[in-house]
Amino acid sequence: MEIITKIADLQQKMSSARIQGKRVGLLPTMGALHEGHITLARTCVDANDCSVVSVFVNPTQFNDKNDLLLYPRTLDKDCALLDEVGVTYVFAPSVEEIYPEEDTRVFHLGSVAEVMEGKYRPGHFNGVAQIVSRLFDIVKPDNAYFGEKDFQQIAVIKAMVKQLGMKVHIVACPIVREPDGLALSSRNVRLTPEQRKNAPKIAETLFKSRTFAQDHTVAETIKYVTDTIDAVPEMRVEYYEIVDGNNLLPVISWEDSEYIVGCITVFCGNVRLIDNISYKH
Ligand code: PAJ
Repeated sequence: MEIITKIADLQQKMSSARIQGKRVGLLPTMGALHEGHITLARTCVDANDCSVVSVFVNPTQFNDKNDLLLYPRTLDKDCALLDEVGVTYVFAPSVEEIYPEEDTRVFHLGSVAEVMEGKYRPGHFNGVAQIVSRLFDIVKPDNAYFGEKDFQQIAVIKAMVKQLGMKVHIVACPIVREPDGLALSSRNVRLTPEQRKNAPKIAETLFKSRTFAQDHTVAETIKYVTDTIDAVPEMRVEYYEIVDGNNLLPVISWEDSEYIVGCITVFCGNVRLIDNISYKH
């Protein structure tokens, strides 16, 4: 495995990989890797001849500057884990390398970028589109891997790829959970022991809501999930929306779509956790 920090060096490696007819896979990450990322990395390594994992804490997608400052950075450990998986290249550029000047591009990606996270984290998806389009330009991957934990992010990336006419195939990978159900996240390390003990209530409630939904309306299911989680000490639901999995617009009835997903964000103390569950697919 080789660690690359310069765009020009990576571009050179990528052109020679392409000349050799290699299939290239890219997994974009912000580091502080956990088993969720590593599972994606394994999928990427298995399906491609050359695999690139980027590790870059992208400042333009943080609407909360404190969150950016507190974001864990563990590059040496990340590289050791990726080496074990058999990744070909780690791309770990500096902020100056990626943004020698301010990226002023504004993406208009429609409703998928405006609802839910788009509403509560203004500018977030614009920053994600800036960095991911930049990485796609540099690497020109055949396949790029994203986790369904960030369900809306996948929809936004797909809309961006379509709009820019890029050729990359977006591969959506299932959520990886702790044995107690908590979705793995780099932010979990910021939970206090008490908060960590309570956090699995999020996934537990989402899973129970599938049964609840069988004889309740969408509105009743939203209330059930929100009330149950709000009753847990130090937890506050920021939003719970039950949406059409394709366009991410709210559904009113279970008959509104063949693909229905519930998306949640919860403040556990001051740590913001996200999760989702599919009701119909
Ligand atoms: P990051 O939060 O590091 O996540 C990198 C990838 O890992 C994302 O596609 C995310 O959905 C996936 N992932 C994280 N936790 C997961 C879990 N428990 N199960 C399955 N997949 C999981 O998402 C980002 O970084 C950034 O926004 C990025 C796309 C890299 C752009 O900066």
